[in-house]
Amino acid sequence: MCDAIYIHIPFCVKKCGYCDFLSFSCEEKSKTDRIEYVEKLIEEIRLYPKLKYDTVYFGGGTPSLLEVEEIEKILEELAINEGAEITLEVNPQTVDMQKLEGLKKIGINRLSIGIQSFNDEKLKVLGRIHSKEIAIKTYNDARKAGFENISIDLIFATPDQTIEELEEDLDIVERLSPEHISIYSLIWEEGTKFMDLLDSGKLNPLDNALEAKMYELIIDRLKKIGYLHYEISNFAKKGYEGRHNSKYWKNIEYIGVGLGASGYYEGIRYKNQVELSDYYKKIDTAEKPLMEEEEVSDKDRIENYYILGLRLLNEGIEAENNLYFEKIKELCRKGYLKNEEGIYKLTSKGLMFANDVFVEIME
Ligand SMILES: C[S@@+](CC[C@H](N)C(=O)[O-])C[C@H]1O[C@@H](n2cnc3c(N)ncnc32)[C@H](O)[C@@H]1O
Ligand code: SF4
Repeated sequence: MCDAIYIHIPFCVKKCGYCDFLSFSCEEKSKTDRIEYVEKLIEEIRLYPKLKYDTVYFGGGTPSLLEVEEIEKILEELAINEGAEITLEVNPQTVDMQKLEGLKKIGINRLSIGIQSFNDEKLKVLGRIHSKEIAIKTYNDARKAGFENISIDLIFATPDQTIEELEEDLDIVERLSPEHISIYSLIWEEGTKFMDLLDSGKLNPLDNALEAKMYELIIDRLKKIGYLHYEISNFAKKGYEGRHNSKYWKNIEYIGVGLGASGYYEGIRYKNQVELSDYYKKIDTAEKPLMEEEEVSDKDRIENYYILGLRLLNEGIEAENNLYFEKIKELCRKGYLKNEEGIYKLTSKGLMFANDVFVEIME
């Protein structure tokens, strides 16, 4: 059964220095291009059977750059269950009160606000268009507009970040009290401006030990103020775990539409065309705009189940007696995994070395 859809909106006001997600700045793409994109997106949605969705996720890019009416038009194409989770990623500085109220009215019931940092200096280094003040205002406006399920995105281990700066970010998080927090350490991605600055010595990554200390601090602090640490980088108040993303981690099928979107449907993992012209060309011939598709083998399915499932810290995985079982038992012996009545979960030590654990399982 497939009841989740991811909708990719590849426009941003300006490309952030660290980001390698498929998006381009609006300077390159005019409003008419955006209208055309929404039209093609709708045509792509029509290429799939009319499924009933339990979760809808508008991601980007910056979906909040679309007009409310455009988002509404997309939603009208979907059959959506009552009580569905409908999330939209919002960038501060791209919405005002009127737009937030409009989004609420058309049925968006969860916002994921890309705050990244509450420190003006860090926001500037990251290349964000907003300030701390605007970030807090956007959050408060969202509350005033009636959103009762708000997630915020933060990035830590940014260049030269100190423990004190991280603590200041967490102080603000505590005051705002969002239902959900995604907090990732900065990933230095190939091909980004940050990578060039790293190569030329103008930016430096944080020391690994400091990054680990920051992660421990985040876990401690957020747990103390009532958040469940339910996924490696995600924290939620009880009952507010992200339903859509949890489906990815549970290896459940979902449809992905839009430029470069990935999906997993009818046993096939696919990725859409990444060039706008190729994407449009396929849709114009009423073909799904796929660039890659791969049937998921039994081996891949098991591996994905383990690697993704272990990310869910409280749910874990059931390990059957298959070719991975010895590795799982060995990871238990080394203290990276624990066995709770046949359910295997990451330990605190495993959490600090999660990527190594995943590599070990796949090797
Ligand atoms: C694709 S972005 C879309 C959200 C929205 N456009 C924004 O930036 O506010 C989703 C999230 O991924 C995270 N992210 C993107 N690039 C990252 C990187 N290189 N390292 C760590 N986190 C990153 C950010 O927290 C971001 O909010
Ligand atoms: S981080 Fe978000 S706003 Fe920045 S370029 Fe990437 S998708 Fe766009």
